[in-house]
Amino acid sequence: MYLFVAFVALLQACVAFSDTNRKACQHPTADPLDGCPKNTIVVGTGQRYVTVQSAVLSLPHDTTSHNILVLPGNYTEQVNVTRPGPVYLFGQTRFPKDQSKNSVSIIWRNATGAAVNSTIDNAYTSTLTVAPTFNSSKTGSGPTGDPVPAGTPFGNTDFRAYNIDFINDYKNYASGPALAVSVSYANTGFYYCGFYSYQDTVYVGKLGNAYFYKNEIAGQTDFFYGFGTAWIQSSLVTLRNCGGGITAWKGTNTTFENKYGVYIHDSDVKKANSSLALTGKCALGRPWNAQHRSIFANCYLDDSIQPSGYIAWGATDPRLGSNTTMAEYKDYGSGWNTTGRAAANITIVMNKIQYAPYSTPERVFQYPFNGTFGNTGWIDSKPEAH
Ligand SMILES: *[C@@H]1O[C@H](CO)[C@@H](O)[C@H](O)[C@H]1NC(C)=O
Ligand SMILES: *[C@@H]1O[C@H](CO)[C@@H](O)[C@H](O)[C@H]1NC(C)=O
Ligand SMILES: *[C@@H]1O[C@H](CO)[C@@H](O)[C@H](O)[C@H]1NC(C)=O
Ligand SMILES: *[C@@H]1O[C@H](CO)[C@@H](O)[C@H](O)[C@H]1NC(C)=O
Ligand SMILES: *[C@@H]1O[C@H](CO)[C@@H](O)[C@H](O)[C@H]1NC(C)=O
Ligand SMILES: *[C@@H]1O[C@H](CO)[C@@H](O)[C@H](O)[C@H]1NC(C)=O
Ligand SMILES: *[C@@H]1O[C@H](CO)[C@@H](O)[C@H](O)[C@H]1NC(C)=O
Ligand SMILES: *[C@@H]1O[C@H](CO)[C@@H](O)[C@H](O)[C@H]1NC(C)=O
Ligand SMILES: *[C@@H]1O[C@H](CO)[C@@H](O)[C@H](O)[C@H]1NC(C)=O
Ligand SMILES: *[C@@H]1O[C@H](CO)[C@@H](O)[C@H](O)[C@H]1NC(C)=O
Ligand SMILES: *[C@@H]1O[C@H](CO)[C@@H](O)[C@H](O)[C@H]1NC(C)=O
Repeated sequence: MYLFVAFVALLQACVAFSDTNRKACQHPTADPLDGCPKNTIVVGTGQRYVTVQSAVLSLPHDTTSHNILVLPGNYTEQVNVTRPGPVYLFGQTRFPKDQSKNSVSIIWRNATGAAVNSTIDNAYTSTLTVAPTFNSSKTGSGPTGDPVPAGTPFGNTDFRAYNIDFINDYKNYASGPALAVSVSYANTGFYYCGFYSYQDTVYVGKLGNAYFYKNEIAGQTDFFYGFGTAWIQSSLVTLRNCGGGITAWKGTNTTFENKYGVYIHDSDVKKANSSLALTGKCALGRPWNAQHRSIFANCYLDDSIQPSGYIAWGATDPRLGSNTTMAEYKDYGSGWNTTGRAAANITIVMNKIQYAPYSTPERVFQYPFNGTFGNTGWIDSKPEAH
């Protein structure tokens, strides 16, 4: 009897803590919390919390786990997550395995650079920011950006969002950095989410780890950029026009081996619609500094992609070096051009041995501060199943 009670308690603890049972929670019900794990609060019109940010701020600044169910709607707000404990955001939906049918959008509009007469950091513009402090989230300038004050702790160890679209619609063309998501000093996973902007849509900054599964990520210029580690799995990378490159990463020298970079796997790279005339115009990426690292592996590329694949940063400032890793492995589609890649001599076409060190999330995600590989406990490896 006691054993049985203990077993049931253990089972419940497991369900509450790690198995989110997200689909039952996300399914619309008369009481929205039906089917949700405990420690779930609701955001929506007429609810106790009407903004996602107020719900996030209601959580204690500690290591406990909490879930937030967001009811259908367009939420015009910035969301900042600084707490260290797990936070899972669930968008309510009848279609938990179809990003294109999401009913929750978080929308912000701001940009820096040419768009506004100011020198504010790009960090101010993001729709969603997951970072322990503002200073740790800054992009900064120079080869390694602004230094983060010594002693800054790691931020969220397990942030997840399911079925939520994050939009920065400052302008409908590239008009300076306009971030939809910004991740620094944190582990983050995005499942069936959308990220929409035109320039610098996804920023994964210092000690940032980000995993994207069956997302749509849309942009025009340098729309994956940063200093950290990002893995994009089975997603749609949507070209809304061409500019810079799809990826613009900046490498950092560390005392340990690092694999900071952006790794795009088994994904489709396509123009947004047939009225865009992009044939042969878009670059896979360009080096923000000479230690840029990015790989498109097993990706379908439509004819928008340039024959060279990647490009130099600029004609008079190429930023290419012996540690520049702008690579592809087994890409296909009309944007794959064997002779074009070879003639330009910029894209590294990897063989199986060169690709192997980047072939799984375990091989690229590192623990903060010491660089140990295999920091993947925060990744939901079976988002379809629960
Ligand atoms: C959100 O805004 C879009 C675009 O204006 C609109 O089509 C959609 O119906 C809105 N969603 C909800 C749930 O109100
Ligand atoms: C962008 O954010 C900055 C800093 O919060 C603010 O000063 C500026 O007015 C915002 N710009 C727009 C266009 O909202
Ligand atoms: C930006 O604003 C400052 C102060 O108002 C002004 O002196 C400067 O000319 C402006 N710059 C641009 C590019 O508009
Ligand atoms: C989020 O952080 C940015 C940068 O510090 C700040 O401008 C913004 O006001 C914050 N938003 C909220 C809702 O706290
Ligand atoms: C953030 O960095 C600035 C320097 O860029 C510094 O003056 C400030 O004290 C830092 N803030 C915190 C809270 O560490
Ligand atoms: C095609 O996509 C572009 C970029 O998102 C957009 O501006 C344009 O309105 C779209 N055109 C059509 C016909 O949907
Ligand atoms: C990394 O170290 C190399 C060799 O010292 C140097 O050329 C390069 O500029 C450094 N890169 C960064 C981003 O500091
Ligand atoms: C390339 O990377 C290696 C290993 O991190 C480093 O020792 C070397 O200084 C780097 N070279 C350049 C030119 O950055
Ligand atoms: C492939 O690249 C070569 C060399 O740059 C170029 O001549 C050719 O037109 C390209 N083919 C296509 C289909 O773009
Ligand atoms: C460019 O050509 C040189 C000389 O053949 C070769 O060593 C280098 O690996 C090539 N680089 C790329 C990215 O293919
Ligand atoms: C690195 O840090 C992680 C997390 O704190 C820890 O689990 C791991 O054992 C550390 N690795 C080494 C070699 O100390």
